[in-house]
Amino acid sequence: MGLSRRPSRRTNLALLVLLVAAFVSGWVAFAVEGSPESRVVTALHGIFGLGIVVLAPWKSVVVRGGLRRERRHGWAVVFAVVVAVSLLAGVVHATLGPLDVAGISALDVHVGAALVAVPLAVLHVARRPQRPRMADLSRRTALRALAGGAVAALVYVAVESATAVARLPGARRRGTGSYEAGSGDPSAMPVTQWFTDDVPHIDVDAYELVVSRPGEPALRLGYRDLLTMTGTTRLVVLDCTGGWWAEQTWRGVRVSTLVGRPDAGSVVVRSVTGYSRRFPPEDTDALLLATHVGGAPLSRGHGAPVRLVAPGRRGFWWVKWVESVTVEPEPSWWQPPFPVQ
Ligand code: HEM
Ligand code: HEM
Repeated sequence: MGLSRRPSRRTNLALLVLLVAAFVSGWVAFAVEGSPESRVVTALHGIFGLGIVVLAPWKSVVVRGGLRRERRHGWAVVFAVVVAVSLLAGVVHATLGPLDVAGISALDVHVGAALVAVPLAVLHVARRPQRPRMADLSRRTALRALAGGAVAALVYVAVESATAVARLPGARRRGTGSYEAGSGDPSAMPVTQWFTDDVPHIDVDAYELVVSRPGEPALRLGYRDLLTMTGTTRLVVLDCTGGWWAEQTWRGVRVSTLVGRPDAGSVVVRSVTGYSRRFPPEDTDALLLATHVGGAPLSRGHGAPVRLVAPGRRGFWWVKWVESVTVEPEPSWWQPPFPVQ
């Protein structure tokens, strides 16, 4: 029977599949924007994660057996604790809300713990390899996996329904899992940047935006030059991977006003901090170099003097403190999917 007949190898392999699936789908959830596709991704992500919880009774048999053996278990226990923290923080974020404690949200804890779990998982699995067998590809295993998936999906639906019935904050989150914060009121909008980035000091009077295209001399524009150019105003949602979103009225100059729509290559928008993202040429009409939000100049934290507004893209594309816009021959996919610097 399931629990007694040496289920350990298959349980461990199933956990491996779920860990990898949860980790990968977590990053996909960070990349998608807007419903309904983002809702599908976050739901699948939740189901993979909760699948680990569903397997806990079976794994506890493995753990008890393992702990009885003479060996050092320290890292396995640390691994279990880190995975539990990540799971708990993920569910807390999806039900109770961002729960900001000293500037650290449940989602920060969730993703942070998941990252810490990676080397621990590699260590755990490398020391206890579980060989897959041809028989694992049987109809029987497929049926078990389906049944397990169905149970995990039911748990997910139960958590979502309970969140809705109890009117927990989670019922109000966007398809991406983000919570509304400061729409129409930029001063109430959180200040967050990629974890490698920091808010710089910029002297607006000395500020210059460098615009360059291959084979042409670079154009240097001061802050006031940008203000005198024909601008445009747009109502756009900023959905940050920090777990919040806000809709604001942004004002600024279209990137196409500066570089047109290049025939090929890509457009790189770079910050004074060295942070940068690369965009396809067809995006230049939609991309805005914003100087104002909610009718007032940007604050330092929100990217003063100039930040990018990238409609339909998650927050990490919205380069702040823009220093240069450069047309380059490399294609737009020529960059890591997430910022690394
Ligand atoms: C959610 C993920 C996992 C957690 C929290 C976890 C945790 C643990 C703990 C606490 C132990 C007992 C301590 C020990 O034996 O040193 C253990 C044992 C073990 N784990 Fe994991 N594990 C996970 C996933 C995996 C995966 C993916 C594999 C391999 C593919 C694996 C293979 C094993 C093996 C072979 C044992 C030892 C069983 C024995 O010696 O009888 N585990 N695990
Ligand atoms: C071992 C790895 C991971 C596990 C086991 C895991 C598991 C979970 C679970 C159980 C939830 C709650 C789902 C719910 O109850 O609705 C969740 C939510 C979430 N996780 Fe993960 N996760 C992992 C890694 C990641 C990573 C690496 C990221 C991002 C890079 C991420 C991003 C998210 C987001 C954005 C949510 C909120 C989704 C929502 O509110 O519907 N996760 N995760």
